[in-house]
Amino acid sequence: MAVEQNRRDFLGFAFGGVAAVGGAFALGAMKRSWDPLPSVAAAGFTTIDLSPMQDGEFRTFEWRKKPIFVLKKTKSMAKNELRDITVSDAQYTVVIGLCTHLGCIPSWDGSSEMFKCACHGGQFDASAVNTFGPPPRPMDIPPYKIDGTKLVLGEEGPEYKKFLEASKA
Ligand code: FES
Repeated sequence: MAVEQNRRDFLGFAFGGVAAVGGAFALGAMKRSWDPLPSVAAAGFTTIDLSPMQDGEFRTFEWRKKPIFVLKKTKSMAKNELRDITVSDAQYTVVIGLCTHLGCIPSWDGSSEMFKCACHGGQFDASAVNTFGPPPRPMDIPPYKIDGTKLVLGEEGPEYKKFLEASKA
């Protein structure tokens, strides 16, 4: 009788154990299917270290498959209180490098200090504000957060939120 009872207890524990392990695996698999793919998670943010940039230097980065233009303004370039990003007392133009007319990629012309779009002749000043041709508005500023001398694209920091508020006014 006692042997039969022990056998039943053992079987109960064994089935319980198997069910618990199976449940844990199932939960793990469900969580993995809900989580974004590593490539998607990594694509959300891009960190740019601005500290090596020289005055007047222009660089292109990529964020979420889009070109990001970064220009470190010189002292002689006009400041744009609304759009300039100030990091360590220097002003930067940081925009999604797509023309606001039909989405071509403009180029930076350092001699005229303008962004020029070859598609239909659109022009933008050093703050990426449209100044000539068909582009209807300035180039877009991506969401960003300032982290020391770095910019984290894809994250809305207080400076970006302030910019959004001021843009609505
Ligand atoms: S796409 Fe740039 S001017 Fe038309």
